[in-house]
Amino acid sequence: MAVFQLPSLSPEIPFRFTPTPLKFSNRRRINFFRPLSATDDSRSGAPDPESPNQMFILGMGFVGGFFAQQLKESDWVVSGTCRSDSKKKEWEKRGINLHPFSADSPEWSLLDSVKDYTHLLISIPPLADIGDPMLRNVELVRDKLSSGNLRWLCYLSSTSVYGDCGGAWVNENHLPNPKTQSAKVRLAAEQGWLSLGRDLGVSTQILRLGGIYGPGRSAIDTLLKQERLSEGQKRRASRKFTSRVHVEDICQVLKAATEKPASGEIYNIVDDDPAAREEVFEYALELIEKRWPGNITTKPFPFLYESREESSLRGEKRVCNERMKDKLGVKLLYPWYKSGLQSIVENMDNRF
Ligand SMILES: NC(=O)c1ccc[n+]([C@@H]2O[C@H](COP(=O)([O-])OP(=O)(O)OC[C@H]3O[C@@H](n4cnc5c(N)ncnc54)[C@H](OP(=O)(O)O)[C@@H]3O)[C@@H](O)[C@H]2O)c1
Repeated sequence: MAVFQLPSLSPEIPFRFTPTPLKFSNRRRINFFRPLSATDDSRSGAPDPESPNQMFILGMGFVGGFFAQQLKESDWVVSGTCRSDSKKKEWEKRGINLHPFSADSPEWSLLDSVKDYTHLLISIPPLADIGDPMLRNVELVRDKLSSGNLRWLCYLSSTSVYGDCGGAWVNENHLPNPKTQSAKVRLAAEQGWLSLGRDLGVSTQILRLGGIYGPGRSAIDTLLKQERLSEGQKRRASRKFTSRVHVEDICQVLKAATEKPASGEIYNIVDDDPAAREEVFEYALELIEKRWPGNITTKPFPFLYESREESSLRGEKRVCNERMKDKLGVKLLYPWYKSGLQSIVENMDNRF
């Protein structure tokens, strides 16, 4: 399988991506530095009104970046936001124009650009004190978007909204019961975007994501960078069940969601195997040792153990992905962490 090396967004973060055949139309090899086409937002200032496929990504982060790259490859017009000049310049080199947007000093004129797009992906997390940064000005957002081309929106949420379920399996019918402040504002953001989507009469979907991993962000990368785990990470490691999902699978789901619009549908987006983080790190270490024996000197073990209170605040649960498979027809590329980590290691250059 061909392996592409994306230009790194930051000198210390290798951004590697092995494309997997997805059901995109007009799929062709990626040329990250191809000349901009007439439909590129960066050249014309606005997407071509004739194009039915225009994605605006609020928060071009890890998931947004992977998805943008795949969409661009399929001839979508793509734009989005970030907070730094350096990131904007990196993306310009790939033919994608980003708009500066920060929740600290929001530039609301951004909405005049967003409204020209047919699709909107919201990937900016809510802030503990103000909640979702766009929804704090919901009247203006509704007003602007109602006069534009929007017909699809999708909000990237988190399985944290379920709260503690004592390790039971939970599907989307389970009543959310968030305990932490971040999970509470997350649930409020979901509700806000669902309600806005209803008002606008556009397809609206909520994806509740498990822990996201992929090339450049995984237990393998943490070990290779010899990073020490934070206290919080060490504690979370002691949980019996952590749902996770590979970024390529999220991209598959997003693409399927654009092809199967729905009004207010919520999906859990996780793999089939909610395993303990400790187990994942042990397997990652095993893979690294097999490929590059004797190089890891700092191991993130031992993990700390959460008190019962901490554990119930964060929540033990096993998240069920049946709806994603049934309704969106998604077949996971990485149904469990072992296959995901293996592919990450196999596609890495020698790191030592
Ligand atoms: N990481 C996980 O395991 C996980 C699990 C479940 C759900 N989620 C959620 O899923 C979504 C996508 O995850 P991800 O890992 O792709 O996120 P990510 O890499 O952290 O990207 C988040 C994006 O939001 C932007 N952003 C963050 N804070 C902002 C602020 N205050 N004002 C304006 N923009 C802001 C970032 O801007 P810059 O590009 O300038 O940094 C970035 O583009 C996020 O909402 C995340 O919280 C994550």
